[in-house]
Amino acid sequence: MSAIEWNETLSLGIPTIDRQHRMLIDSINTLDAAIQRGAGQATLAQVLKSLGTYVAVHFIFEESLLRVSRYPQLNDHHDEHEHFRRTLDNFGQRFARGDTSVASDVHTFLKNWLTTHIQVEDRAYAPCVQAHQRSQQRA
Ligand SMILES: [Fe+2]
Ligand SMILES: [Fe+2]
Repeated sequence: MSAIEWNETLSLGIPTIDRQHRMLIDSINTLDAAIQRGAGQATLAQVLKSLGTYVAVHFIFEESLLRVSRYPQLNDHHDEHEHFRRTLDNFGQRFARGDTSVASDVHTFLKNWLTTHIQVEDRAYAPCVQAHQRSQQRA
């Protein structure tokens, strides 16, 4: 499984969010590197745990930005995030129990979900957030 490379299709033009998305992608690539070098269960569980923490922080930040921007699809967006967090939690619990056989499934899931989510659902809120930020700058 190859690493995810940052490219313009992943950029929303919102600097704080773009920075966080890059960090998320770095975390997924760290997981990939750990899998590639055959890291043990404890390491994989640790990498997944810190990824989960970073994901939770990003989702909270993003949802509060959508709330102040009065994004109409905030509830749906929140549901997407929740679904993802639950899936990630499940994987984390399986790792913690010693089931490392799912390592590459986890990586494929994360890679596909994150890139699609950024390119589709996150991109959909960008105009609303940018309009809000412009109105704040004028105020
Ligand atoms: Fe999102
Ligand atoms: Fe996001």
